Amino acid sequence: MTNILMVCLGNICRSPLAEGILRSKLPKENFYIDSVGTANYHVGNKPDLRSIAIAKKYEISIATLKGRQFKVLDFDRFDFIYVMDQSNLENVLKLARHKNDINKVSLILDQITPNENLEVPDPYYGGNDGFEIVYKMLNEACNTIAKRLNP
Ligand code: 4NP
Repeated sequence: MTNILMVCLGNICRSPLAEGILRSKLPKENFYIDSVGTANYHVGNKPDLRSIAIAKKYEISIATLKGRQFKVLDFDRFDFIYVMDQSNLENVLKLARHKNDINKVSLILDQITPNENLEVPDPYYGGNDGFEIVYKMLNEACNTIAKRLNP
């Protein structure tokens, strides 16, 4: 089994969407995919209604996911940890215990634009178009991840 973790701040907008999109592209027999937030604001909550709606538009269901917070043990449970932005990256790397932990973590958009440090923008305070943009970015990144991990 290959274990993949998607990380954002709240675990209600970007990372649950990334989780649902990548899950739709990989066989569940071989890939376990989860998502978390670096903050604890939305632990136990379902995704933002706007994330649920954009996923549904593309025939992906994320309505039953529940928010949880990143914890150090996630470094042991997951092989690849994809973060949405620089602030998530810093928050996760602060908890790394050794080089092996650090090596698992990367910006998700590095998959399509390596070394440019591009971020998936937080759509929480914006309108619905922000969620469409985020969906497109994540879909492209997840296409690349799926092709690389399951060629
Ligand atoms: P996410 O978006 O990190 O993509 O889930 C956010 C959701 C909620 C908050 C911030 C970002 N918040 O401050 O409550």
